[in-house]
Amino acid sequence: MNLKVVVTGGAGFIGSHTVDKMIDRGWEVVIIDNLSTGLRANVNIGARLVQMDILDNTLVELFSREKFDCVLHLAAQTAVPYSIEHPDIDCQVNLLGLVNVMEACRKTGVKRVAIASSAAVYGDAASLPITEDMELKPGSFYGLTKCTSEKYLALYSQIYHIDYVALRYANVYGERQGDGGEGGVVSIFTRKIAEEQPMYVFGDGGQTRDFIYVGDVAEANCQALTAPVSAVNRVYNVSTQTQTSVNDLAALLNKAAAKSAKPNYLPARDGDIYHSTLSNKAAVTLLGWKPAMPLADGLGRTYHSIKEKL
Ligand SMILES: NC(=O)c1ccc[n+]([C@@H]2O[C@H](COP(=O)([O-])OP(=O)(O)OC[C@H]3O[C@@H](n4cnc5c(N)ncnc54)[C@H](O)[C@@H]3O)[C@@H](O)[C@H]2O)c1
Repeated sequence: MNLKVVVTGGAGFIGSHTVDKMIDRGWEVVIIDNLSTGLRANVNIGARLVQMDILDNTLVELFSREKFDCVLHLAAQTAVPYSIEHPDIDCQVNLLGLVNVMEACRKTGVKRVAIASSAAVYGDAASLPITEDMELKPGSFYGLTKCTSEKYLALYSQIYHIDYVALRYANVYGERQGDGGEGGVVSIFTRKIAEEQPMYVFGDGGQTRDFIYVGDVAEANCQALTAPVSAVNRVYNVSTQTQTSVNDLAALLNKAAAKSAKPNYLPARDGDIYHSTLSNKAAVTLLGWKPAMPLADGLGRTYHSIKEKL
């Protein structure tokens, strides 16, 4: 399939890996990114970068000139603690930004949109693994803007017939990850081990998360844009469906680095969820996607990429 795609946030962590896969598939890719957290250096030379804010009121003119087949919308305010301190800015970027993108889509005949949602929409779930039909109880404004984004897409689909896929990522890790945003524990620990600095764990380290490699997430993003019509207009978890404790993560990173750094334990943080894992059954059966990267290998790649840059 020869697609012309726009990727918002394509200079960021997940976006740049996804753009790499799109270029490999032979797609024409335009990136819209204001480079607030993304880097020009992340951008694949086969893609075209337009440095622009998703809130820009000339966005529709760009869409009108370019005539995109589909949109992957990743640009966002991504930090949960920042959303608690600044719900107004979180709402501006994550909701008004989304609506500006959707209006540009509607006015220029874009047929399909995929967006990055998050496990943050679930809050503290009643049982594990979390399935897509469970109640949404976000515990942060970030989680709230993500679940509201999904509702906007559902209504755009109903009213304006723009197909959508919303992908609720678990904790994404891999090369080019920053320390902020979600899932930062891997990059923080990796940097500490590489720099031989102490690692700090909140609580006893028995808390678990579902760590998914960025290349697998990038693959899900591409598949969402080409999935058959029978598999769209819905949300999917993108996860490994495996629980890994923070202590096990530290041990795996030590192994990858051939080191034996011991974590230091601090009191648990209020409101932190103890266990988390997302079911990936829907994505596996309906999108035909599955996670391919074993955690130990993905952590090894992450460690070596960070080590090289020190
Ligand atoms: N990393 C994770 O574990 C994770 C988990 C769940 C969901 N997500 C979601 O995935 C998406 C990508 O996250 P990421 O981890 O790659 O973060 P990132 O910060 O690396 O990427 C975000 C990109 O968006 C750009 N951007 C931000 N605000 C913008 C604006 N107003 N206009 C234009 N560009 C803007 C940034 O410059 C950056 O390149 C986000 O929507 C995030 O909420 C990430």
